[in-house]
Amino acid sequence: MKGMFITVEGPDGSGKTTQLQLLVRALTEKGYEVVTTREPGGTKVGNSIREVLLSPEHDEMTARVEMMLYAASRAQNVEQIIRPALSRGAVVVCDRFVDASIAYQGFGLGYDLEQILALNEWATGGLKPDLTFLFDLSPTQASNRMKDRGQLDRIESRDEAFHQRVYDGFQTLLGEHPDRMVRIDANETIESIQDEVFDITLERLRERGVIES
Ligand code: TMP
Repeated sequence: MKGMFITVEGPDGSGKTTQLQLLVRALTEKGYEVVTTREPGGTKVGNSIREVLLSPEHDEMTARVEMMLYAASRAQNVEQIIRPALSRGAVVVCDRFVDASIAYQGFGLGYDLEQILALNEWATGGLKPDLTFLFDLSPTQASNRMKDRGQLDRIESRDEAFHQRVYDGFQTLLGEHPDRMVRIDANETIESIQDEVFDITLERLRERGVIES
């Protein structure tokens, strides 16, 4: 595939979605075809699954079902949006991907990591991001930022220990994938993060031969 697949990860409140939008705008201004999507969601089917997953009404949902619904939304996103865009040579920027399932359902809920990987391998047909930005913000800081935003969804309202395990999970992933995953200090200013993310993306695009100079 000719395009490049970029994902952004990190805790809720880390500013990843704002930075994703800034990156998309900067790449588009430079003339690239950029496709933005998110998980759960990104498609009509995925957005319906998202509502089920995040509704605080569904507090009886089992960890197994939660994991399958995230994977189901992802499968639809990969087939309908991500693979076709990559085949056209577009840059795809996705807000969360398989790493989130490993961190939240694996480390957070304690679900078996091998099973999560196997399910996701099947759901995505083995698609892996080329580059992942991990927005690093401590669970305490993330929780303070989320409190300012008002109502929390079903996952956000889990306790501090859950969010600490998710944080540790992302740090483990960072250690395991030093080439693919880039740590971004979410405490820096919006402008400096924006520049860092854009520069790294351009460098990777050059390395992959997606752009020339
Ligand atoms: P968002 O707020 O970044 O859109 O993500 C929605 C919530 O879903 C967020 O709390 C993280 C959670 N999540 C998982 O638990 N597992 C996953 O695989 C994904 C993609 C998200």
